[in-house]
Amino acid sequence: TPRSPLSDEQISSPLQVFGQAKKQINKIFVDVQDYVADASERMIDVNKLCPDVINENELKSMLDYRSKVKGICEVLTRDHMKVAFFGRTSNGKSTVVNAMLGEKVLPSGIGHTTNCFLQVEGSQTGEAYLVTEGSNEKQNVESVTHLAHALNYEKQLNEKELVHVYWPKDKCSLLRDDVALVDSPGVDVTPHLDDWIDAHCIDADVFVLVANAESTLMVTEKNFFHKVSTKLSKPNIFILNNRWDASANEPEFLDQVRKQHMERATDFLVKELKVCTPEEAVSRVFFISAKEVLQARVKERSGFPLNSGALADGFGARYLEFEDFERKFEECISKSAIKTKFLNHSQQGKHLVKEMLKIMETIHNRSQEQTHLKMCQKKEFQEKLNFIEQQLISITNQMKMKIHQMVDDVEDKVSKALND
Ligand code: GTP
Ligand code: MG
Repeated sequence: TPRSPLSDEQISSPLQVFGQAKKQINKIFVDVQDYVADASERMIDVNKLCPDVINENELKSMLDYRSKVKGICEVLTRDHMKVAFFGRTSNGKSTVVNAMLGEKVLPSGIGHTTNCFLQVEGSQTGEAYLVTEGSNEKQNVESVTHLAHALNYEKQLNEKELVHVYWPKDKCSLLRDDVALVDSPGVDVTPHLDDWIDAHCIDADVFVLVANAESTLMVTEKNFFHKVSTKLSKPNIFILNNRWDASANEPEFLDQVRKQHMERATDFLVKELKVCTPEEAVSRVFFISAKEVLQARVKERSGFPLNSGALADGFGARYLEFEDFERKFEECISKSAIKTKFLNHSQQGKHLVKEMLKIMETIHNRSQEQTHLKMCQKKEFQEKLNFIEQQLISITNQMKMKIHQMVDDVEDKVSKALND
């Protein structure tokens, strides 16, 4: 049946397109799930009454489809958009994540080097808690200090591991719209880049390279993304030249430095990694100050104006550029996640429905053939029955006549005898 277009509901961010697509595909799968459940129950009933109409394999396939559809529905409800942040240590990865969340969720700065993978996602219960890899235990998190403490004192943590940080959805629109943000340790601190990619990057929809605008792109950073792009076809990569507030100290070099960073970053994406065109690269490279954005947003939440406090020159422009990055990021991640996550589900779904249709058609044809056969048998039987009936009628008539004759005969004989 035709479904209402996405624009029916109000969309304030491209991320909501993902949420709506998820809702719609989920609804379709719930319909399919009801259909398979209904069909397999009917098949079981029919099989009990007429075992020749449905064979064992058909019944088994239908039950298999039932569990497959159930599996897809379960994966669907867990599907989210995933963005992973990488870069050299201290470039400001954790600060960028916090700036996007609009509050200090992850520990950052001196003494708070990120020492494992941290995935921040929306908490269903509204509480903040963390869950370490291989454990189901929810550890309550009251504050960023508490989180930092829990992470530092978690003895078994190693850099490859993933800690899930569940944060109340109502505190951040990104989490509300099903985005999971993955912070990582510096790419320069590990010899295990391949393991990292296998464990944390394969299902990421967007990668953000947090570079330091005060230096140039480093070999370790480039090397990491070369590895990523050999394992994933055309990964979506954004480059954030962070700490751009430092440029305020040297305004005379600002344009020149920006141009140089822009050229190098574009060359890296277009010529080296070949992940986008020069035109697309313009929407993939940004000059920002995560620290400023975070400070401004924290202040705004406490009721102060966004641009209050001591701000370096050019704050307004940098803030706008951060917002521009967020918008482009939202468009990109939503599109990519819909494609990678739902295209796969819908192809699987289509295949399942086609297979089910084939089985149902076979059963339908077989049952029609059997009905036809029975009708023919019935007709033949009816004809025989009519013939026998005719025979019986004529025999009965003959008998009747004979009996009448016999009675007449006897009556004649009796009256004759009486007369005699
Ligand atoms: P590791 O987890 O150790 O790899 O570092 P990180 O990349 O997560 O960096 P983090 O966010 O911890 O930031 C390191 C330091 O840089 C902190 O003291 C931040 O306040 C500071 N910082 C981050 N972004 C900016 C920025 O845009 N401008 C300035 N001036 N400082 C920043
Ligand atoms: Mg960090």
